[in-house]
Amino acid sequence: MKLAVVGGGSTYTPELIDGFARLRDTLPITELVLVDPAAERLDLVGGLARRIFARQGHDGRIVTTSDLDAGVDGADAVLLQLRVGGQAAREQDETWPLECGCVGQETTGAGGLAKALRTVPVVLDIAERVRRANPNAWIIDFTNPVGIVTRALLRAGHKAVGLCNVAIGFQRKFAALLDVAPSEVHLDHVGLNHLTWETAVRLGGPEGEDVLPRLLAEHGEAVAADLRMPRELVDRLGVVPSYYLRYFYLHDEVVRELGRKPSRAAEVAAMERELLAMYGDPALDEKPALLAKRGGAFYSEAAVDLAASLLGGGGSPYQVVNTYNNGTLPFLPDDAVIEVQAAVGAKGATPLPVPRLDPLYAGLVAHVTAYEDLALDAALRGGRERVFKALLAHPLVGQYEYAEGLTDRLIAHNREHLAWA
Ligand code: G6P
Ligand code: MN
Repeated sequence: MKLAVVGGGSTYTPELIDGFARLRDTLPITELVLVDPAAERLDLVGGLARRIFARQGHDGRIVTTSDLDAGVDGADAVLLQLRVGGQAAREQDETWPLECGCVGQETTGAGGLAKALRTVPVVLDIAERVRRANPNAWIIDFTNPVGIVTRALLRAGHKAVGLCNVAIGFQRKFAALLDVAPSEVHLDHVGLNHLTWETAVRLGGPEGEDVLPRLLAEHGEAVAADLRMPRELVDRLGVVPSYYLRYFYLHDEVVRELGRKPSRAAEVAAMERELLAMYGDPALDEKPALLAKRGGAFYSEAAVDLAASLLGGGGSPYQVVNTYNNGTLPFLPDDAVIEVQAAVGAKGATPLPVPRLDPLYAGLVAHVTAYEDLALDAALRGGRERVFKALLAHPLVGQYEYAEGLTDRLIAHNREHLAWA
């Protein structure tokens, strides 16, 4: 089995490699290609990747290349984990929205729109080249904003599934709190990427007993502390929102907080420098502990599980993924991309039925879906007016004056990445 990772020079890659090595029975990789235009990083990351495989006795071959077409040639699955413009562009996304009193975040709000505009054309070009190399290859997209990027891929007819680690993070956390194996925990997970709620926590499978009320009664403090939300809010909702809901439920507080501290991009850039220095040490042959300070915990496990199922192997039968709505949430268009539990197999992902969603969540989901629709239109066709309309439609922007100010800033800060600007 051949896998290619586009953005393979990411400092995250050792997390993925560690998962591939540990879970080789689930996903027997014979060749892994790390593709990245940054040759120097790729060397460092590739060297460590080979040492991790060697230490763990994995005899798969690891190839590094900056040639995308050669790298994806013959791959059964291609993982996309790239960041157009790197941490420098992310830093911008996290900064200029604050000037207008809005959240500065790389996937939520105006920063997320900037990221979508930079990323969608690049990902579509890569996907086209993957399809040319092997029309049967699966594309697994971690590239943010995952909801919009996956929608772009599916609309262009690609064999693609979007993936995020938020759900697997909750699954592992809840399993530890409940003292059961993670595979025992099935989440009723609903919403859009980075806009989700866990509405039930079932033991044993989709029909299992819902222990969420017990989990909140016994461990509500720990759950709320982890989300950095007031416990009372979580108790009153009775469901567990993802930590991205902080940007909505605690908007003004978050804006003040972001204005007071260095950006996450700056923090991550410093960590990346440290990580790359470590990766260059020929004695290092495992993923360093520092990597746990990044947001990507368990994403290798989720990726292995998904790739194994898509490639007809032994992944879990149900997994939380991003795919077409197709009537699952009846108040959204069929071609909206939602993040829910799905049956996953060689034919792809089919969402499991979702009970009627409380208007408390459905309203926001519908609102952000409409924004994503306009955001994708702006990413595909460009133009100031489309950017403005996407921002005006976003529930965290909404006002004319904000949308105007943000539009100007978005374009000014991203000119080099936007063909039309
Ligand atoms: C979580 C999200 C990812 C995001 C990451 C950021 O894992 O699910 O979509 O990319 O956090 O982590 P970072 O360490 O880069 O802030
Ligand atoms: Mn994510």
